[in-house]
Amino acid sequence: MLDSTLFPYRDGVLSCEGISLGSLADDYGTPLFVTSRNSLLNQYRRFEKAFAGLPHFTCYSVKANFNLHVIRAFAEEGCGCDVNSGGELFRALQAGVDPGKIIMAGVGKTPEDIEYAITSGILLLKAESLSELRQIDTIAGRLGRKVCVGIRVNPNVTAETHPYITTGDSKEKFGIGEADLGDVFELLKHLEHVELNCLDMHIGSQIFDAEFYHAALEMLLDVLATARSAGFDIRYFDIGGGFPVTYDPQKPATPIEHFADKLTPLLETTGTTILFEPGRFLTANSTILLTRVLYRKRNHTGKEFVIVDAGMTDLIRPALYQSHHEILAVRQHDTTIVADIVGPVCESGDFFARERTVDSVGEGELLAVLSAGAYSSVMSSNYNGRLRAAEVMVDGETAKLIRRRDTYEQLIQNEVE
Ligand SMILES: Cc1ncc(COP(=O)(O)O)c(C=O)c1O
Repeated sequence: MLDSTLFPYRDGVLSCEGISLGSLADDYGTPLFVTSRNSLLNQYRRFEKAFAGLPHFTCYSVKANFNLHVIRAFAEEGCGCDVNSGGELFRALQAGVDPGKIIMAGVGKTPEDIEYAITSGILLLKAESLSELRQIDTIAGRLGRKVCVGIRVNPNVTAETHPYITTGDSKEKFGIGEADLGDVFELLKHLEHVELNCLDMHIGSQIFDAEFYHAALEMLLDVLATARSAGFDIRYFDIGGGFPVTYDPQKPATPIEHFADKLTPLLETTGTTILFEPGRFLTANSTILLTRVLYRKRNHTGKEFVIVDAGMTDLIRPALYQSHHEILAVRQHDTTIVADIVGPVCESGDFFARERTVDSVGEGELLAVLSAGAYSSVMSSNYNGRLRAAEVMVDGETAKLIRRRDTYEQLIQNEVE
């Protein structure tokens, strides 16, 4: 949920830190992603405090929100990055992240991704198949390098979350299952240009129950013992991301401190540096999507629609994951309505909320769609010829444009006459 000290109502008007959302809309237009920098920092510091008892290194999972300024906010605190592609690596490097603090995951890294990662000197690459290990070895050999690798283990744990974001089940494409690990260790003994230093897992996202991590970790600990007895120097134990946030006040997320209490005793037995890859936890609730009401309409059944200028092209989570986002009127009203809050895109799936009670906002007024900091702007598109939204970051009394709104020219710039 939104931190109401950083997104307070002042005189009945919602603000981000010291700036009213109304004035941000006037200055930058809508739709607009508004991020509280101090909220990002608070989340990072809270995460670090929770796991302070463990030798660990946190790598922000850039896929959640890849804006350079977001990456940089964490990097300035000492945080590393988890990237999933050459493009994300480029972003992390552009943001100024030390390559020695970057790790690369991804089930389908291309040869170009791998070469870019190796020549950039990142900390480690995590492989998800025997073929990929051979590929990394070949490329490292050609470049005359020896590369630190991890293997992503698929622990066959089905975390209870949305089916599209569970990744630790053997039905899924991710990682290498227990049955194939013997072959992996055998292969690794013969590869000259890779060195196995890390065991890795990532069982999904928005996981509320620490037991799923516990079960997967027990399996990974067995793999650790096997790897060590086979002579591998495992220095890193990467348990991925997946820590939950509250989207719906009716379903409060398990606090990060609970995960730390449950997992620390197991993790400290590894004698390794623990790598964490939180994404959503660090960013989701630090950003709101500010949108203006274009029209209100009531159909013959009495059903009410509030049509806003943001759509699924800005925030696809409700359409893709049926996810809940709280919606607040920027200017508080005394009366409420029950309405579908919908965007302008030609899809019935283009909605932010159905049958939602919201303040009785009029046409031209502003709404804030909450929890829009993770898997939101990064998934935006130009579908329906829509311009991807601008983004601002607020730090106290200062707002900074951190992404310009797309232009019509950009919509066609890569098309060839
Ligand atoms: C390998 C890996 N690490 C980390 C993350 C970040 O997950 P979350 O945002 O739930 O923390 C993901 C998300 O899909 C992932 O695939």
